[in-house]
Amino acid sequence: MMPFEGFPHVIQSQQFSISFLLELFRVANAIRSRPESYFGRLINRTVAILFDQPSSRTFASFVLACQRLGASVVPMEHMARFSSVAKGESLEDTVRMFLEYDVDYFIIRWHEEGSVARAAEVAGPEHPVINAGDGPGQHPTQALLDTYTIWREFYDLDRPIVVGIVGDLLNGRTAHSLAYLLGKLFPNVSFFFISPESARMKPAVIEYLHRHSRHLQEVTKPRLFELANAFDVLYMTRPQLEYHDDDEQRTALIELYKPFVLTPDIVEEMKPDAIILHPLPRTFELPAEIDTNPRARYFQQMGNGLWLRMALLERIENARISVLTENRNHEA
Ligand code: NCD
Repeated sequence: MMPFEGFPHVIQSQQFSISFLLELFRVANAIRSRPESYFGRLINRTVAILFDQPSSRTFASFVLACQRLGASVVPMEHMARFSSVAKGESLEDTVRMFLEYDVDYFIIRWHEEGSVARAAEVAGPEHPVINAGDGPGQHPTQALLDTYTIWREFYDLDRPIVVGIVGDLLNGRTAHSLAYLLGKLFPNVSFFFISPESARMKPAVIEYLHRHSRHLQEVTKPRLFELANAFDVLYMTRPQLEYHDDDEQRTALIELYKPFVLTPDIVEEMKPDAIILHPLPRTFELPAEIDTNPRARYFQQMGNGLWLRMALLERIENARISVLTENRNHEA
């Protein structure tokens, strides 16, 4: 039995079932309390980590997750400059190369939306491909760790939660993946999508949430102060300047986003048990003065990324083994 839609690949956050998510979170909790007892779960497995866009947390936590499960890792960073991609090689050919080297898993961050799904087609059903961010598309493992962080705070899935997501909601892949995933897991969630008019939430996400009858409101004015006491979760994100080439445009964008900064006086208006999240890296939208506020959870959120990614790899490996055994029994 396939544990989630699209198995073994992880491409978009809406592919997971609720039962898989809860199992994943349970395993992440178990790993964080006894990480050493999971060493060896990926022994004799090789993981290619292929990144052509900048990364600190996603890259490092995936490398550590693989190593702590006992896998060997081929870490390829800066691929746009320091690999054959710089000579014009495609991601698909890069995947073909690693298949010849008997690599088992692929973890890929690539600049173009849809590129990781194409890589998964090349890799085929025996080689899991995990999307670590496909341009302005999705970042499903970030959404998993964000949702794990929220779940650890609130546990009760039926509780009504109000989630504000702020920033570049058009290009911010973490915002897309999180909205899909929370929309799936929390039936009583309501969203405020807060952004400048030119960076409103991607229409496909809005359409999905409407289709699933989830409440949402788009706010294109900087009204954070007024809305502050409504939020249970406030998810800040940075303007995605890298998707705009010219310097003038970038300077104009920074001005556009300045009124959307989270200031300490806004935080004081928030409910005492509300939490502030950010996928990081932050720029000016989340000033360091907020770090010591008891509502700040973004550093714990970052730490959760390691346990969650270990759990995800462990669950996929576990399911791969049962699928392979099932197939073998079927053939015999
Ligand atoms: C995010 C990303 O790369 O999408 N970073 C991350 O993986 N934690 C967020 C961002 O870059 O804004």
